[in-house]
Amino acid sequence: MTNPTSVTEITDFAETIAREAGELIVREREQNTLRTDYKAQTELVTHADVLADQLITDAIRKRFPGHRILSEETMPDLSQAEHLDTPLWIVDPIDGTVNYAYGHPQVGVSIAYAEMGRVQAGVVHAPFAGETFRGTRGDGATLNGKVIQHSGATELRQSLFATGFPYTKDNLEPLVKRLDAMIHQCRDLRRIGSAALDICWVACGRLDIYYENVSPWDFAAARLIALEAGATAGHFSDVPDGYPADLWGRDILISAPDIWQGARELLRSASGYA
Ligand code: IPD
Ligand code: CA
Ligand code: CA
Ligand code: CA
Repeated sequence: MTNPTSVTEITDFAETIAREAGELIVREREQNTLRTDYKAQTELVTHADVLADQLITDAIRKRFPGHRILSEETMPDLSQAEHLDTPLWIVDPIDGTVNYAYGHPQVGVSIAYAEMGRVQAGVVHAPFAGETFRGTRGDGATLNGKVIQHSGATELRQSLFATGFPYTKDNLEPLVKRLDAMIHQCRDLRRIGSAALDICWVACGRLDIYYENVSPWDFAAARLIALEAGATAGHFSDVPDGYPADLWGRDILISAPDIWQGARELLRSASGYA
């Protein structure tokens, strides 16, 4: 660690600001003042997404003025992930905006901290569920302070998987092929609507497998939480040379360890990868 602040202090700080953002998000929805706008074909953004992003990124800038920030709503420049010289924060102020706008509870605030492209600390706080997932590299993962572990699933056939679908509907064919392969081989599917919570649910054994193409802010914190809970995390296609794997969102696959390889082969074959 190049930073004098310990990684546990960093995780504590991330948890504090995730909880503050969570309170804001709940308050905004309760007051029924949600204003929505469109970012892409079907992608919504609410006023609360932007307010929560500002709350979190202002707090990070104040405490760590020299650090870089990658955040979905106010600082979405993905090239930040390639600069390994400075610590990087990766923020999704509301993961599950569509759930949020429709009044569903599956919403997470996701905050990760990386050094040299490796995520060291991750917090995913689900304010409507009152659940906080935490992971610190080398120190395990917890849910509301209790140590968590993956499901221990050993058979694809008896596995519950989650995935998601992009907001832009231009090229859904490969996703449909993967879904077709998985649904034939696994027990069942859940589409929860928050990638960060999907992955945390793999971490605590509520799901066995998660795969999707996502952005760094969707998964950076949760991936560390899953790894620290003993799950296997990787990709079913190659990560470009030199790009930090912890932050590469294409073709990610996270599952209980014994079924990871089988799921990878299935997804590769359904995708037409060699
Ligand atoms: C989305 C959610 C969703 C996933 C999408 C993400 P957002 O994030 O994580 O589950 O399927 O790919 O973009 O837009 O709600 O922060
Ligand atoms: Ca979004
Ligand atoms: Ca997201
Ligand atoms: Ca978001």
